Amino acid sequence: MKKIIITIDGYSSCGKSTLAKQLARQLDYVYIDSGAMYRAITFYFIQNQVSWSDPAAVKEALQNIHLEFEYDETNEGQASIYLNGENVEHLIRDMLVAEKVSEVAAVKEVREFAVAQQQQMGEKKGIVMDGRDIGTTVFPKAELKIFMTADTAIRVERRFKELYAKNKSITIQEVKENLELRDYIDSNREISPLRKAADAIILDNSQLSMEEQLQLALQWVEDAM
Ligand code: C5P
Repeated sequence: MKKIIITIDGYSSCGKSTLAKQLARQLDYVYIDSGAMYRAITFYFIQNQVSWSDPAAVKEALQNIHLEFEYDETNEGQASIYLNGENVEHLIRDMLVAEKVSEVAAVKEVREFAVAQQQQMGEKKGIVMDGRDIGTTVFPKAELKIFMTADTAIRVERRFKELYAKNKSITIQEVKENLELRDYIDSNREISPLRKAADAIILDNSQLSMEEQLQLALQWVEDAM
């Protein structure tokens, strides 16, 4: 059967990764969380005190960063990102990383580094990748592009629940401010800002169940074949 590239872009905490994972499972495609790559790079920069406003320091640091995804077949194919051989999947979800990731992701050298690897991952097609610039920059010729949105209040609540489960000291205000700040920086940066590709289909999932979203997306996949 023909394999295609599916891109899912949108604002923070719209449920992009949940839909992307489900789609990949149904279609037996590879799922790539491009945000995890920016988060892992940010984590490395924080840990190693790399100043991301210094292009030379960024270039040098990137040479020491090796990213890889692994999939746990015993756990619904759950993806984990490895940074230089270490599983950092949980560490990169920390608020400390969330607070800085959009600044780091706006750096030209960082984007070039991540985008080149993302494009390589899609060479054989059969991939679902979610992020902010996947339909516009990484795979502008993708067969199916989805742009997800949801009401801000719903997005804040979803992310708060996720983070609160791990850290009881987090407040809803903190989460709201972080989402709004990231959306602002992501939409206004110079390189590859968050935009809906002209040929992307909008999916507002504020009032949709996971199953409804999946069925819609599967129909679009069929249409794109
Ligand atoms: O998807 P997630 O919220 O984990 O992404 C974290 C951050 O990584 C985003 O807020 C954005 O700054 C950056 N990002 C990006 N381009 C992508 C994916 C994520 O700039 N394709």
